[in-house]
Amino acid sequence: MSSGFIETGLSSGASSIHRALASLQEELEAIDFYHQRADVSNDEDLKAVMVHNRNDEMEHATMLLEWLRRTMPEFDTQMRKFLFTSGSLTAIAAGDDPPATEGKGLGLGSLT
Ligand SMILES: [Fe+2]
Repeated sequence: MSSGFIETGLSSGASSIHRALASLQEELEAIDFYHQRADVSNDEDLKAVMVHNRNDEMEHATMLLEWLRRTMPEFDTQMRKFLFTSGSLTAIAAGDDPPATEGKGLGLGSLT
């Protein structure tokens, strides 16, 4: 994905979504950079700083994902389908394995 606009005349909403997606891409790249550098660092103090920074980038990425979930209904649908499940992801995608939450909610939905 390009981090630049590929179209002109976007609506305000589409421009905001593009900015969020581009920012998410940058946060994910930063996570990867810090993770790689922490993995090979021989200096334990520097490794700890890089792990800390990597985890901060995870917070940033997650905040963007949440904004996207709130803004784009299909993200909400997909996140509800896959996140916090423990079954086979491909089975859930195929509809063969109903998603089950782990430790979330009271499970009252099955009683109705
Ligand atoms: Fe960040």
